[in-house]
Amino acid sequence: MRATSLLRLLLICFYLLSIHTFGAAGVGDKLEKGQNLTDGDTLVSAGGSFTLGFFSPGVSTKRYLGVWFSVSNATIACWVANRDQPLVDKSGMLVFNDLGSLVLLDGSRRTVWSSDFSGGASAAAAQLLVSGNLVVHNGSSDVSLWQSFDHPSDTLLPDMKLGKNRWTGAEWQLTSWRSADDPAPGDYRRTLETKGLPELVVWRGNVKTYRTGPWNGLYFNGVPEVSAYAGKYPLRATTSPWEVTYGYTAAPGAPLTRVVVNHTGKAERWEWDASSWAWTRIFQGPRDPCDEYGRCGPFGLCDPEAASSGFCGCVEGFSFGSPPAATPPAQEVKGTTCQRHAALDCAGGTTTDGFAVVRGVKLPDTQNASVDMGVTLEECRARCFANCSCLAYAAADIRGGGDGSGCVMWADAIVDLRLVDMGQNLYLRLSKSELDDHKRFPVIPVAIPLASIVIILLVVFAIWWRRKRTIIGAIPQSHAMAVPLVSLAIIKDVTGNFSESNMIGQGGFSIVYKGQLPEGRTIAVKRLKQSVLTTKGKKDFAREVEVMVGLRQGSLVRLLAYCNEGKERILIYEYMQNKSLNFHIFGTRYLLEQKCFLKLLRELNFLMQC
Ligand SMILES: *[C@@H]1O[C@H](CO)[C@@H](O)[C@H](O)[C@H]1NC(C)=O
Ligand SMILES: *[C@@H]1O[C@H](CO)[C@@H](O)[C@H](O)[C@H]1NC(C)=O
Ligand SMILES: *[C@@H]1O[C@H](CO)[C@@H](O)[C@H](O)[C@H]1NC(C)=O
Ligand SMILES: *[C@@H]1O[C@H](CO)[C@@H](O)[C@H](O)[C@H]1NC(C)=O
Ligand SMILES: *[C@@H]1O[C@H](CO)[C@@H](O)[C@H](O)[C@H]1NC(C)=O
Ligand SMILES: *[C@@H]1O[C@H](CO)[C@@H](O)[C@H](O)[C@H]1NC(C)=O
Repeated sequence: MRATSLLRLLLICFYLLSIHTFGAAGVGDKLEKGQNLTDGDTLVSAGGSFTLGFFSPGVSTKRYLGVWFSVSNATIACWVANRDQPLVDKSGMLVFNDLGSLVLLDGSRRTVWSSDFSGGASAAAAQLLVSGNLVVHNGSSDVSLWQSFDHPSDTLLPDMKLGKNRWTGAEWQLTSWRSADDPAPGDYRRTLETKGLPELVVWRGNVKTYRTGPWNGLYFNGVPEVSAYAGKYPLRATTSPWEVTYGYTAAPGAPLTRVVVNHTGKAERWEWDASSWAWTRIFQGPRDPCDEYGRCGPFGLCDPEAASSGFCGCVEGFSFGSPPAATPPAQEVKGTTCQRHAALDCAGGTTTDGFAVVRGVKLPDTQNASVDMGVTLEECRARCFANCSCLAYAAADIRGGGDGSGCVMWADAIVDLRLVDMGQNLYLRLSKSELDDHKRFPVIPVAIPLASIVIILLVVFAIWWRRKRTIIGAIPQSHAMAVPLVSLAIIKDVTGNFSESNMIGQGGFSIVYKGQLPEGRTIAVKRLKQSVLTTKGKKDFAREVEVMVGLRQGSLVRLLAYCNEGKERILIYEYMQNKSLNFHIFGTRYLLEQKCFLKLLRELNFLMQC
């Protein structure tokens, strides 16, 4: 703190001194008509944060005109004028030409860069503002004829914006440098997607490489971690008849900050740390393999913790099939795409389809989605249900809390879906048969032994047999779930965040922890391993809940609650200390029972289908 204040004071002194003593060109924050700025001269913004002048980036010897942060030793340029017209020596000069434009001339007085503006106005001065914005105006600084903030390089500063001016059609975007030493426009761009919901996208040429997820009223849906610094650097997205833009500001007293799209295509936010006199990176995206755009293909769901399965799975109701015969053999690893299990049943205004919830995700690409901010989520559901081309919907604004409001509906492929902590819910249209499978865990009348369940299922199955539905699909739907669903936070709390000291057993599919409820009761927490959380694993979990609900009373182990938040599938059982066999019952024997039971189901199913 001390150091910066001192530096600022020094800079201010220098600034005041310079105005009074020299009054010559290239000093202070202003260059007036008739003056010139040559290599070695600088303009310094009031307050001293920013400097404009000539510099050579990294190991390069070429000279560029740019604006940089005064504070850091290395020149961190946030704006460069002559990006792809470097000067080969120190003979460059910034001056106003006869037409009143600010121009950069090389040694032979050829124009290599110019602040173009139309309208025949004549500029009187250029001024480097406190914000780092270089403004060309006619004498009254309120009316800018041209400003560097309208021509971003690779850096977004507070009060700049990305997006589109809907009236003029002008777009603001960041373009990476070609390399660390070459400010020429590189391969990557960062833009604000202005169709669908606003969202930030990194492009390599014309290919999307990374998106942050759509704006949800508070932040971009796929990067909830930015809300950690939204107090210091308030984010805002503006959608109006005039513009669709995104930008941020800096709260008074907040450290210097900058957002950069780097030459390797990474979007980064840096913050100046005065105590270590260095820049600290506080955000970087893409963060992991799942941020790679569309990695798992249409209807794929990327799980950053599923390294063993190549991160990719499919959303519920889909599984990897062979690529369509028409496509030539793919050279890529993504040889297969997610295929729908059961066709949707929707035509002429009638449908039997329903919706499955895909929890905790970065919402898919909204480029082709339709958006209506003015409806509730219930109305959204009704609209999607009534329109056969609607394949999924979600809330567009989470500011009101709860399930959110507003409506975004997808009519084509669901692309670039991934799991993310604190993600949103996507409601996916599926055939009735798929939903019967695991949408709800139905209650089977209690106190019925396993055998009776099998018999009941057999009977129900017989009814369904002609339709060749699966036996699981035949479980009655009408009952509500009687075992409570509890939040992951509570489970973490009672198990000491799944601490190893609370681990009481481990099987191939799950780990069992001991937990303590606040009122003193001890519970056993069975947590499914992430590695088994395939579509099949999830179905097995659903079946275990079904079965255990049926065994709730009069059985050896009692299911108290369950949790299926995000990637977690957890069952909470009564823990009976005096029965040492207890753990083994659900650790081994129960699993055995369940396996036999499931095997029986599968065999019956198979027999009936043959
Ligand atoms: C640049 O400005 C300096 C000082 O104001 C002046 O002496 C010099 O002639 C100017 N150079 C040109 C090329 O205008
Ligand atoms: C930056 O410059 C200051 C003052 O010249 C110096 O004390 C400091 O060590 C330098 N820091 C680095 C990282 O070079
Ligand atoms: C600058 O331009 C504005 C708007 O065109 C005009 O009102 C103002 O008088 C001009 N100022 C000067 C000093 O020319
Ligand atoms: C660009 O990103 C890469 C990858 O994270 C990083 O190693 C590198 O330091 C960054 N380059 C710059 C100039 O910030
Ligand atoms: C949106 O539609 C265009 C044109 O049909 C298509 O090329 C593009 O892939 C679609 N984008 C998404 C994310 O589905
Ligand atoms: C159904 O959705 C499609 C795609 O969003 C849209 O083009 C169409 O107008 C909608 N139909 C009705 C009747 O709302």
